[in-house]
Amino acid sequence: MIRTQGLRKVYRMGNVEVRALDGVDIEIGKGEFVGIMGPSGSGKSTLLHMLGLLDTPTGGDIFIDGTDVSRLTDYEKTMFRLYKLGYVFQDYALVPELTVMENVALPAMLRADRTEQQYKAATVDILSKIGLCDRRTHLQGELSGGQQQRVAVARAIVNKPDILFADEPCANLDTENSRMVLNLFKEINREMQQTIVMVSHEEWHKEYFDRIIRLRDGKIVNGEK
Ligand SMILES: Nc1ncnc2c1ncn2[C@@H]1O[C@H](COP(=O)(O)OP(=O)(O)OP(=O)(O)O)[C@@H](O)[C@H]1O
Ligand SMILES: [Mg+2]
Repeated sequence: MIRTQGLRKVYRMGNVEVRALDGVDIEIGKGEFVGIMGPSGSGKSTLLHMLGLLDTPTGGDIFIDGTDVSRLTDYEKTMFRLYKLGYVFQDYALVPELTVMENVALPAMLRADRTEQQYKAATVDILSKIGLCDRRTHLQGELSGGQQQRVAVARAIVNKPDILFADEPCANLDTENSRMVLNLFKEINREMQQTIVMVSHEEWHKEYFDRIIRLRDGKIVNGEK
């Protein structure tokens, strides 16, 4: 479902070149829950941003479901993201002026193929899954960090994306709330065969992943657990 070949990303800062990704070949199958791990600066976020079409590689290829994504126009990439991909970030990235319900419904409202009735039903469905139905009229500021991240997960999966990307979603959470988010990921991975690609630098998260892609200095060091 995801395949990269010789993926490279070079950042140039004046005369200094940083090879954030230095020839990365990976394959991720449908329904896999994959962890991207490695030390700080090893290229984890860079890889996730390339796979999630949030940034453009310097070289190499990315195929998602057989589509060579480098050939897509900016508009096609936007549509690809909206219809096929979901994202969770470490800082939740919720809209503070919107209620929980409105935040979760947002990506569904943007889709031309969803009626109001459909996206409202999907939103309520997801909110009960994450156990926050009773908080649906709350604003972000009225929720704990763990609750905010569960709302962000709900928003990311409301459209049932083919692939869910998460960049250190537990970085700002304590162990208990981290486990809650990881268990939620595991549940949607199992029940909905949701493909999940998650960046983490916490070794104890390993137990949740089907497989680990380890990076060091922009290169894969070990494809297995
Ligand atoms: N926008 C940028 N401009 C210049 N260099 C960058 C940029 N983004 C990342 N880098 C560099 O690329 C390398 C990889 O960064 P990346 O953010 O992918 O690492 P990471 O593995 O996610 O680290 P962390 O665990 O600290 O989040 C680092 O050396 C970083 O300094
Ligand atoms: Mg990072």
